[in-house]
Amino acid sequence: MCGIVGYVGSRPALPIILDGLERLEYRGYDSAGVAVLGDGRMMVHKQAGRLADLKNSLCEGSTGCVGLGHTRWATHGRPSDANAHPHLDCSGQVLVVHNGIIENHAELRAWLERHHHRFRSETDTEVIPHLIEHYWEGDLEGAVRKAVRRLEGSFALVVASTREPDKLVVVRQESPLILGLGEDEFFVASDIPAILHRTRRTIVLENGEMAVIDDRGPRVTDWEGAPVDKPIIEVSWDPVTAERGGYPHFMLKEIHEQPDAVRETLRGRIAPAGGVNLAELQPLEELLRSCRRVYMTACGTACHAAMVGKMMLESWVRIPVEVDLASEFRYRDLLLEPEDLVVVVSQSGETADTLAALREAQHRGSQVVAVTNVLGSSVAREADAVIYTRAGPEIAVASTKAYMTQLVVLALLALHMAQLRGTMTPDRIARRCAELESVPDRLKLVLQHEPMLERLGGRLRDEEHVFFIGRGADYRAALEGQLKLKEISYIHAEAYAAGELKHGTLALITEGVPVVALATQRQLLPKIASNIAVARARGGWILAVGLRGATEIQQLADEYVPLPELSPLLMPMLAAVPLQLLAYYAARARGCDIDKPRNLAKSVTVEG
Ligand code: F6R
Repeated sequence: MCGIVGYVGSRPALPIILDGLERLEYRGYDSAGVAVLGDGRMMVHKQAGRLADLKNSLCEGSTGCVGLGHTRWATHGRPSDANAHPHLDCSGQVLVVHNGIIENHAELRAWLERHHHRFRSETDTEVIPHLIEHYWEGDLEGAVRKAVRRLEGSFALVVASTREPDKLVVVRQESPLILGLGEDEFFVASDIPAILHRTRRTIVLENGEMAVIDDRGPRVTDWEGAPVDKPIIEVSWDPVTAERGGYPHFMLKEIHEQPDAVRETLRGRIAPAGGVNLAELQPLEELLRSCRRVYMTACGTACHAAMVGKMMLESWVRIPVEVDLASEFRYRDLLLEPEDLVVVVSQSGETADTLAALREAQHRGSQVVAVTNVLGSSVAREADAVIYTRAGPEIAVASTKAYMTQLVVLALLALHMAQLRGTMTPDRIARRCAELESVPDRLKLVLQHEPMLERLGGRLRDEEHVFFIGRGADYRAALEGQLKLKEISYIHAEAYAAGELKHGTLALITEGVPVVALATQRQLLPKIASNIAVARARGGWILAVGLRGATEIQQLADEYVPLPELSPLLMPMLAAVPLQLLAYYAARARGCDIDKPRNLAKSVTVEG
């Protein structure tokens, strides 16, 4: 997500911090800030926009040898100068940069305001410097220790104070933070590329650990203050591999990030007793209770997520839902009424067709909920309510973790509406919530099939056509699978509702033609089995992705990827992973430019 760089040494910190932040620019950000101490004063400079603009507007230099910097990718509070990091306490003596999400920030903010703290930003982060100020009893380390115990959520923190200007205190919980050991100088960073050109000797902090870094180097402890003996790890990656976290492509990195991304999406949104908590929908609560119909609209992968969302809403909320490609939404004779709810889904929040559909809906008097990954994007600004997917920046053109988190948000939305309208019992909602919470671990299990999918991707190398089939939610998942394969490997792929094969497409299934069959819907297993049998009888080569233990399907298939079982409408989350890996390895076997497929852009901001 955001980028962090810190420095303690004998050289001026400012150029080192700026240089480190530049090396994290590829990850995307919307504002940046730096602070330098150690020369008898403190310099803080932060603003929305590019790092280059920040550099140009830095009129004062600084010779201080302790510093910290941050590039922000907004999650709470729009991109603005005030919301950029570092954040300060009331006295302006404590500085904090933060990656992650403070779940209980609203409650802490109210508490701190009651204790007369004044806030200057809309961020969740700002509670941290105020808490440190509140707990100050003469030493920074002790105050940080007390403050972090009040925080719930994920955080990597770097803290400095003018009262102890020769040190940084850093903390890690669920958000990465590494220390770099140079010759008489020390670094801290959220990501290895920020410091790799300075040192290869690193210490990786774990959850529940913190460190004080001064000119003697880092001292790592747990939050109680007990010393922790940390190994020094030599990083052997070259700088390009380091940017991709050791993976050969961003797409593969992002596929592997999905368990963590889903954890972030769910963070704070499921109540301990199992209900869904989507406070961001508060302004539309009346409409969510009363609407008689839902329209969903999106493009490409986001539309495939919407198609699964439709099934969730229909099944759990018992409400009719229409899904439209955003490029079609405006140009048909819509029967949209002001009392219908409209849901738009967009990773970037800038897709021209989706934005136009949103405006059309509002023009007709409807209210719009946006599901997007980018805070402050056009869709987020213009919608009546926004649910953020919190997938972190997605760099590969082919969407993977954004799609996954869209599915999770749409499940939360459907459960939230079911809760408001009483269409599911609290017990049933709690069971679905528990299943959602199990998704990250199950995704990790599915990722273990990677070696097999590498081999199967290689098997597709010289193919010209691949068919994907499935029924129910599997058909919607198959649509996404075929798009992934097409866009990065340039193999022609088509997805069919399996029952449709016999209405035409079966004519194309001949000896050796690959058919990827999804069989994750328990209630439909006998039906898909007969569809597979028919394709096989025509000589089709069958790769089935199905439920673990579905022996009939396994026996019919040439290759079988078993998945753990969840409720049928949650299975597209698990089915996505093998299909993404299959596409990835097929593209790799064909030598394609995986992260930047030909003719495609990450964000399609023009209508075409
Ligand atoms: C495919 C892909 C695209 C996008 C589509 C919509 O992998 O990423 O199909 O899903 O261009 O983009 P967003 O979600 O940004 O509106």
